[in-house]
This record gives sequence, C-alpha cells and structure tokens, in this order.
Amino acid sequence: MIDLIKRLPKAELHLHIEGSLEPELMFRLAKKNQIEIPYKDIEDVRNAYNFTNLQTFLDIYYAGADVLITQDDFYDLTWEYILKCVEDNVIHTEIFFDPQTHTARGVAFETVITGIKRALADAKAQYGITSCIIMCFLRHLSQEEAFETLEQALPFKDDIIGVGLDSSELGNPPSKFKDVFKKAKEEGFKLVAHAGEEADFSYIYEALDLLDISRIDHGVQSIKSDELMQRLKDEQMPLTVCPNSNIELRVFDNYKAHNIKELLDYGLNITINSDDPAYFKGYINQNFINISENLPLTEDDIITLVKNSFRSSFISDELKQQYLDRVDQAVG
Ligand code: ADE
Ligand code: ZN
Repeated sequence: MIDLIKRLPKAELHLHIEGSLEPELMFRLAKKNQIEIPYKDIEDVRNAYNFTNLQTFLDIYYAGADVLITQDDFYDLTWEYILKCVEDNVIHTEIFFDPQTHTARGVAFETVITGIKRALADAKAQYGITSCIIMCFLRHLSQEEAFETLEQALPFKDDIIGVGLDSSELGNPPSKFKDVFKKAKEEGFKLVAHAGEEADFSYIYEALDLLDISRIDHGVQSIKSDELMQRLKDEQMPLTVCPNSNIELRVFDNYKAHNIKELLDYGLNITINSDDPAYFKGYINQNFINISENLPLTEDDIITLVKNSFRSSFISDELKQQYLDRVDQAVG
C-alpha cells in the first residue's frame, strides 16, 4: 500500500503556502530579516506545535509568517514546498496564499505574488510540475477588507486562478462574504471556501448557496446531514480533505475516528491534501499513509482519491486526461 501511495502521481488542491514554512527556514529568515520569534531553537518550535483547535494553530501560524519579508523569502518558501512535491510525486499543485497576512505588515501584494510565481515557473521548467495560485480572504477580517484585497489582486488576475476563504471559521460564516465572492465571480475567478472544518454543516450550505463555490475545503462535517450528503454526491462536489490537519486540530480524536472512509464509501468526490504540512507533521504522502494505516482503505480507494484530485483540479480537460493516463500507467 505504501509503495502504491509513493508511486502514484498526485495533485494537491489544498495547501497553504505559509503553512509549508518549516522551522529551519523560519529561523534562517528571522535571523536575516531581524525578526524576533518566540522560540529559542527548533525543538522549542516543535513543542509549541501542540494545538487544541483551529484558533490555537492560527495564532502560531500567523506569528510564523512574520519572518517572510522579501520576494526571495516567498520564492524560498515556495521552492522548499516544490522540493517536497518532487519527493511525494505531486505533479500538479493548486496553492493558497493569504495576501492580507502580509499586506497588513507592510509587505506589498506584488512582492508576495512575484516570489511565489517565480518559484512555480522554475518548478515547471525544472520538474514539469504544473500549478495554480488561489488567494484566500481571511474570514476573521471584514468583507470590506476582502474587497480591498480583491482590488489589489486585479492587476495580477492572470496569475491567480481563484479566490478562497480561510482563517477562523466559527462565527465567520460564508454569508459574511457573499458580495465579495459575487464580485470575484464577475471578475472571472474560480471560487472555493473552507467550510465545515470546525463549524457545523450549515456553513457548507451557505458556501454552496450563497458563495456559489466549485470546491469545498475540508467539508468533513457534511456527514451530519443526510440531505447534504445526497446533494454533494449528486453534484459530485469536490471536498479537499486534510487528515493530518483534522487530527492535529482535534476535529477528530485520532485517525481511526476520521470519517474519510465513510465519505468515500457514500460516493462523495473526496481528495487528500496536506493543508499546512510544516505544522501538521507531514506532506501529502504522510496524509495518505496515516489514513491507510488506520482505516480499512483499499488500493482502489487510494487510486480513486488520487484520480479525484486531478478530476477536481482547475486544469484543462486535456491535461486532466494526460494526468489520469499517468496514474493508470503507474498503477500498472
Ligand atoms: N489557514 C491555514 N490553514 C487553515 C485551516 N486549516 N483552516 C482555516 N484557515 C487556515
Ligand atoms: Zn486549509
């Protein structure tokens, strides 16, 4: 099983680039940019990564992002993630970034996007890895601030395929961002949103009905509504599930309690992703390995999950077919 997981080419659809900041790079950039971080060494950092819910993680994640200042910092961050893609056989990736986390500190939108873009161009040239960029609005901030961010993104419209919604979910429902998502759609962006990670399934209904999204990030709370499950199945709405994240943030008590096998057996369009791998103990292969070691997943389930990732991506139908053929070849 582990051999199959490693061998299969994969797409990743739910990865926050700021969440791939490894402690070693955090220390190097903190020193270079003379930013104070509240850790004395790498072990101290690892000890701090002991979360009890989404917010306890976000507090540490935003503090970590403070070390990212220059275009080269964003290049290095993205490049290190690309090297993990090479290791894990990720051949297509759709990465999130949080512009407001950086613009609020005086780092220009252009600095962030240019650094990320440069690394992704090198990834294509050196390894043939294809990619898209999705910018997320921080839902703990106002819709007005999201509108300002959308304005800042317009000059880079060709580099950004879609918009998403992340950060503190509880108390910040999708309805809060209805108007800005409508505007983003008019501007031609694809739409995704985190929904039903910690908050109940009503957030998933809102994301579908009010934001008109084409992918749900997480969505694991959908299991609490039979009607919603049927709808997600009928529409084959993709769910970008992140097992390690769900365990580290205590959405489920342990891997054996994770509902991914039930979602898959029901017939939902499920994909596996790493969310914030530097914080959640592993990249995409480790997510696959953890669920396959703890749940009765078959080899066919693994192949389905991987094929779903390509089918649910934002690439052309032609490229999808090429990648699906590569999966078949790897299966043998
Ligand atoms: N930002 C980074 N990771 C996130 C997650 N899992 N949920 C919401 N916002 C996030
Ligand atoms: Zn996420």
